Amino acid sequence: MIIDAAQYASKFISSRAIQSAMARMEKNLASASRIVIGDSASMDELADCSVQLVVTSPPYPMIKMWDGLFSDMDERIRVGLASGNRESLREAYMRMHAKLALTFSECARVLIDGGICCVNIGDAARTSRGRFQVFPNHVDLTRTLECCGLDILPYILWKKPMNRPNAFLGSGFLPTNAYVTLDCEFILIARKGGLRKFAPKDPKRYGSSFTKGERDRWFSQIWDDVRGACQNVAERGDRTGAFPAEIPRRLIRMFSIEGDTVLDPFMGTGTTLLECAKLNRRFMGYEVNEKAISSKVLGMVGKDLGLMRRNR
Ligand SMILES: C[S@@+](CC[C@H](N)C(=O)[O-])C[C@H]1O[C@@H](n2cnc3c(N)ncnc32)[C@H](O)[C@@H]1O
Repeated sequence: MIIDAAQYASKFISSRAIQSAMARMEKNLASASRIVIGDSASMDELADCSVQLVVTSPPYPMIKMWDGLFSDMDERIRVGLASGNRESLREAYMRMHAKLALTFSECARVLIDGGICCVNIGDAARTSRGRFQVFPNHVDLTRTLECCGLDILPYILWKKPMNRPNAFLGSGFLPTNAYVTLDCEFILIARKGGLRKFAPKDPKRYGSSFTKGERDRWFSQIWDDVRGACQNVAERGDRTGAFPAEIPRRLIRMFSIEGDTVLDPFMGTGTTLLECAKLNRRFMGYEVNEKAISSKVLGMVGKDLGLMRRNR
């Protein structure tokens, strides 16, 4: 039988002492959070089965802002994009997904049995040599998660309120050459192994519960009440690809309990980390580009957060 340490201790010490011990424990939890400046294609810093939840948003293949990053990782992607013919673009696209697959196979390794992986991704569209086509990232990423041995669960469709409601693609009011607007993103959800197991009445699980209103909103398949994050970060002046804090906040509450470790292998500015700190979860993050990390997160380093730079 598993005996919860806090329950056992409560037989011997006063509730006040427990409260201060819990506060110390929470502080230690936060200080156990770490970020690694390096490629998450290998996450040797993490042991097998050591993470309860992955919440992330990778660079989206075939979205122009990430062309340079993928090309720097694989020269044949640069060549394929530059050539612009249908087959070369397709090869570049598949190579981008192959690169992401390395990271997701590591995610599958480090997740515990019953651990959940949530990935925010959008499809991409591009016109090359006069031909418009969609690159269905959510399809290929779903296949990747499946190939990594994870079970696919129902996804969430994040319908972003549009900033410019009249921004339609194509030929105005005339059939047949207009396109449906890409105004949704996906939150793919997958699980490693069977259901996660808890001791009966596990106090941390019960302490992490959500309300009926939250359950009804968060577990419905379409989220149309979350606005996109402002992409022009004042401190850097360029686009970051950050998601709004509400996305990781909900996913962390839905799929983890207090004290769990949450991994973001593409941490960017550090939105997931900041939500973990508020929700009393440990955080582990990877980022190749140190300049992407927000000054708020960098300001936590040395206090509540460890930072490691890999030798190149
Ligand atoms: C879409 S952004 C993530 C944004 C993040 N969710 C946020 O709110 O700021 C993807 C990030 O992944 C980083 N990245 C791309 N490939 C990586 C890799 N192989 N390992 C670690 N970081 C990577 C990029 O530099 C970029 O900052």
